[in-house]
Amino acid sequence: MNNHYGSLAALVYDLDKPIGRTFGNELSFYRSRLSECRGPILEPGVGNGRLLIPLLEAGLNVEGFDASKDMLLRCLAHCRERHLSPRLDQMRFQDFSYAHRFDAVIVPVGSFQLIGEFAEALSVLRRFHDHLVPDGRLIIDLDPAGKIIDSSTSIRSWPTDDGELITLQAQHASFDYIAQRRVSHLRYERWRDTRLIETQLELFTLRWWGVDEFMLAMEAAGFRDIVVSGSHEHGRAPNADDWIITFEGRRAGSR
Ligand SMILES: C[S@@+](CC[C@H](N)C(=O)[O-])C[C@H]1O[C@@H](n2cnc3c(N)ncnc32)[C@H](O)[C@@H]1O
Repeated sequence: MNNHYGSLAALVYDLDKPIGRTFGNELSFYRSRLSECRGPILEPGVGNGRLLIPLLEAGLNVEGFDASKDMLLRCLAHCRERHLSPRLDQMRFQDFSYAHRFDAVIVPVGSFQLIGEFAEALSVLRRFHDHLVPDGRLIIDLDPAGKIIDSSTSIRSWPTDDGELITLQAQHASFDYIAQRRVSHLRYERWRDTRLIETQLELFTLRWWGVDEFMLAMEAAGFRDIVVSGSHEHGRAPNADDWIITFEGRRAGSR
């Protein structure tokens, strides 16, 4: 139930963040950071393919995995519509495994913060490291801590093509300031002609990180040459106004 991304969450993701809906200069940032990759690139937590598909269309060789079957089914359908056939697997950050290695691993839009435990996050960073070729790069976007600590609740809605209305109420149920973790209740509802047809509750956990803390975690996992950037301006140190903070590090060793 935790960070499950079931069928209504996947539908809302598609309505709210359709293929190609990127934020600021996110797409040009990733295209430019990945332009020198010759081998495969991995996007863990690939979701509906929002970013994967524009990267494939730009000629990059990207594969993805996701824990959620509903998100993967949407990704697969969007790829098929565009005659794209990337490798997509149902796996988890915590135990994914490939026989081959990647030139880069990318984790956009704060997906890494879905890992709620520090020790588990560190072991996932090591797993990313071990799946890179020597000199391969890990690029991770994290939401600034303030965005997660914000305690406001929200309600949003989206009309669907078949005349239904999907609503999402988010309520923050608990904050653990020691573990740096927020748990929210995401209540998804599907309405038709004023009647409630379906409801799903997801417990949604996000962990916030300090900038220095995350750099140290990447170093502990074996990464070198770590560059931290604000709002996808590579090499520009982050400040309090940045909407996203990116960490890029390299697996040591030469090919
Ligand atoms: C915020 S979405 C990001 C989707 C996509 N990367 C993007 O940029 O739009 C996070 C994704 O991570 C997936 N996810 C959540 N927990 C996961 C886990 N433990 N292992 C793998 N994927 C997970 C979710 O199913 C969801 O598709």
